[in-house]
Amino acid sequence: MSDRDSAALAVSLGGIALQNPVWLAAGTAAYGDELDEVATLDALGGIVTKAVSLDVRKGAPAPRVAEFPGGMINAIGLANPGVEEVRRTHLPWLARSLSRARVLVNVVGNAIEDFARVIARLDDAPGKDGYELNVSCPNVKAGGMEFGADPSALAEVVRRARAETSAPIFVKLSPTLVDTAGAARIVLENGATGLTLVNTFPGMVVDVARRRPALGFGTGGVSGPALLPIGVLATWKVWKATRAPIIGVGGITTAEDALQYLIAGAQAVAMGTAGLRDPRQPARVVRGLDEWCQRYGVRSLTEITGSLEWPA
Ligand SMILES: Cc1cc2nc3c(=O)[nH]c(=O)nc-3n(C[C@H](O)[C@H](O)[C@H](O)COP(=O)(O)O)c2cc1C
Repeated sequence: MSDRDSAALAVSLGGIALQNPVWLAAGTAAYGDELDEVATLDALGGIVTKAVSLDVRKGAPAPRVAEFPGGMINAIGLANPGVEEVRRTHLPWLARSLSRARVLVNVVGNAIEDFARVIARLDDAPGKDGYELNVSCPNVKAGGMEFGADPSALAEVVRRARAETSAPIFVKLSPTLVDTAGAARIVLENGATGLTLVNTFPGMVVDVARRRPALGFGTGGVSGPALLPIGVLATWKVWKATRAPIIGVGGITTAEDALQYLIAGAQAVAMGTAGLRDPRQPARVVRGLDEWCQRYGVRSLTEITGSLEWPA
């Protein structure tokens, strides 16, 4: 890519300067070190790490993923090595290995205070540019309701997280929320930098021969192409209501898919399932965005964000 092309793709996401807007979505590229080609990773906008919790999580029973025609379904159970191991091994690796791609640490918890405690443990460590709070997980202490669906828990998670860091905080919301724009306002009022829209959609695939769920956990999260219009609508609703920085995620396979999110109001996008299927696909999307900018004489992708024209 020439310098001119790179310049067209550069965007700012809530104060994080990105060489291009394409991230790898949380949980689909581990902590980067499992990817064969670091060079490819460093050519992207960034990587959102797999979930990080206070303690080690073993995760859900196998099988953990299954496919269906519209994408895939997973129940990984947020398996991860815990915050101490991430601090000791994974963040130092990211700090050493990446020079251009940015890093957001995806944080999960069982209780409101867990998110802030993970951040407190990581905040002075190098190798990251900010955090993404996965509030689509259950608040175990409060009976299992998802943090994101409980306005007071959501506000408290973000307020406490913000008290531990001055770094950018993105809050990742579920596509099942009744009032996505309302939840977005709550997190912004409590100190979040922006939103990641959306997480997986709850679903179940049945193995007909066995008359059992295809996943060991039973239910799981739907990702891939089926999620694209759902994520694009959530992005448009939140952009219209807040004008906040948004990472659009869900169902992106091509540059055109990514452009849908940008036009609906996202500053950046993240890819999960498509990158799991073919790890070279995110770099193709970067090239496709570049070609699109050249073809239509777009000097900066920032002109595209929120440029949707609603039917009269
Ligand atoms: C195998 C797998 C693991 C995931 N793990 C996480 C995770 O740890 N934290 C999180 O916030 N989202 C997680 N997600 C959700 C993705 O980051 C993303 O929101 C979702 O897959 C939709 O994007 P896609 O259609 O491009 O895959 C995971 C998704 C998959 C498929």
